Amino acid sequence: MDLEEVYSPKYCQQLEAAYGPGMMSEGGTAAIEHLFDSVPMQGTKALDIGSGLGGVAFFVADRYNASVIGLEINAWMVQEAKKRTPEHLQERVDFVRATDGSWPFADGIFDVIFSKGVLTHVEDKTDIMNECYRTLKPGGLLVISDALSSESRKWGEQINHLNEMESLNMYPESESGYIKLLEKHNFILQSVRDDNKPCKKWTLEIINRLKNPANRAQHLHYFDPAELEAHIEGYEAMLKALETGELRSVRFIAKKGL
Ligand SMILES: C[S@@+](CC[C@H](N)C(=O)[O-])C[C@H]1O[C@@H](n2cnc3c(N)ncnc32)[C@H](O)[C@@H]1O
Repeated sequence: MDLEEVYSPKYCQQLEAAYGPGMMSEGGTAAIEHLFDSVPMQGTKALDIGSGLGGVAFFVADRYNASVIGLEINAWMVQEAKKRTPEHLQERVDFVRATDGSWPFADGIFDVIFSKGVLTHVEDKTDIMNECYRTLKPGGLLVISDALSSESRKWGEQINHLNEMESLNMYPESESGYIKLLEKHNFILQSVRDDNKPCKKWTLEIINRLKNPANRAQHLHYFDPAELEAHIEGYEAMLKALETGELRSVRFIAKKGL
């Protein structure tokens, strides 16, 4: 299945039940603030690669007084995120559909390009890296939070199991592989941060939210009981993988030279 089929409206409702309204990756607003904790975001023009339902873009626009364009391969999500854009952000937030190969933006227009929980689903990141470099301003920052494998560039038991359960693929890439990729595309690496500790906490919170009997009636609007069990099993596999280091949550900050 391609990504457009996988991210169906029903699947996205299930992700929102786990991650919170408008969110399709862990940690809610705390994780977004963590992503940008040393990044000068105030008043920037930013691009969000893989903007999903728009929750991250809305928070960034509000919290940092930024102008944000969300980029999505999935056409219905672009329409859905536009529909959900709050009135007070209409002037500063927009959503655009694009494929990897060519983005509909002029050269050198973004101060910051970021991506949260997306690029692990993209096997060949060459086109995206080229487009990031082309559309960033000189001196602009690329901020990526992604799910990595260990240095072996292979998943172990837990993530292989998760990839089998979901039709969604995570492709294994190591920290050193990522650094090489950034450098090959002329980015200057600024920092690499291991986020496994907060990510374990956020994943545990999701498991507890999905397992909580008080939430069960609400969850059964979105999942049938077997689907709910399968989602819980998936997050438990993720938690185990984070604990053993099979899965790593890493933030990279890289700069386009002047
Ligand atoms: C796990 S969701 C994360 C969404 C959002 N970043 C968040 O944290 O809520 C991954 C999203 O990336 C999108 N996506 C995957 N590959 C993409 C690509 N090459 N370009 C743009 N969006 C992509 C998917 O359609 C999906 O909406």
